[in-house]
Amino acid sequence: MEKRHQNKVVVITGGAAGIGRAFAQRVAQEGANVVIVDRIPADEVVDEITKENGKAVAHACDVGDPEAVRQLGVTILEGFGRCDVLVNNAGIFPSCRFEDLSYEQWRQMITVNLDSMFLMAKQFVPGMRQRKWGRVVNMTSNSYAQVAPGLTHYIASKAGVIGFTRALASELGADGITVNAIAPGFTRTPGTLARKPNFNGMTSEQLFEAHANRQAIPRPSEPKDLAGALSFLMSDDAAFMTAQTLYVDGGQVRSG
Ligand SMILES: NC(=O)c1ccc[n+]([C@@H]2O[C@H](COP(=O)([O-])OP(=O)(O)OC[C@H]3O[C@@H](n4cnc5c(N)ncnc54)[C@H](O)[C@@H]3O)[C@@H](O)[C@H]2O)c1
Repeated sequence: MEKRHQNKVVVITGGAAGIGRAFAQRVAQEGANVVIVDRIPADEVVDEITKENGKAVAHACDVGDPEAVRQLGVTILEGFGRCDVLVNNAGIFPSCRFEDLSYEQWRQMITVNLDSMFLMAKQFVPGMRQRKWGRVVNMTSNSYAQVAPGLTHYIASKAGVIGFTRALASELGADGITVNAIAPGFTRTPGTLARKPNFNGMTSEQLFEAHANRQAIPRPSEPKDLAGALSFLMSDDAAFMTAQTLYVDGGQVRSG
């Protein structure tokens, strides 16, 4: 594979599993120095990458914890000197009917899915500004445009991601930094496979099929389907593209 990301330092949150893992594998193949940040161990991904002569390390961190993220930022900047690309991918998606949703569950969702992006960006954007180059890629969801019941807290967090992306892009564009979002559809990952049946009693497998049938490309979404979009957004080919949300969902969302 072409080494178009040779020596870029790429920090990927939630890189131990699912989409983040596919991101880590892809950009490592393209020459990046990958820093995986996850609350669970990522040794397996790091081993896979290093066995193929790629470069990866892992740091344990809860990205919703301000002090843990501050310490993580210090460690990464001491170790690598910089972060060229920040991929804010870690997220949670437990569904819950609105009447049953507690304030604590709401806060937890916003903390992990949105506050974490603010906290991570605070660590690495100043260095990107100094070097006049940087990429921030934030994970939102096509469910923002395909709203389903039981996801008020999730959709609110992912709408916040789109707003944060646009606003941060507006502040950073003059300094060579782009900020974009990727919106996947329902994708086969450990997170979606572990979910409980939804309100209609549909299992994850049934939902993969139902989503596929609504897509222009009628097959279930896999984590590696998202990786090309990340690689593009990190590249110089995407240097004039910022503040955008890319729907990478087999054409499920077909209007703004
Ligand atoms: N899979 C889908 O269908 C889908 C669809 C749209 C958007 N997304 C978004 O894509 C991203 C990845 O989803 P996925 O399906 O790969 O999830 P996943 O559950 O399979 O993997 C998520 C990873 O993030 C880590 N993580 C979660 N909370 C964390 C925290 N507080 N601190 C550090 N690490 C944490 C987990 O340990 C895990 O390794 C999420 O932001 C999700 O909302 C997923």
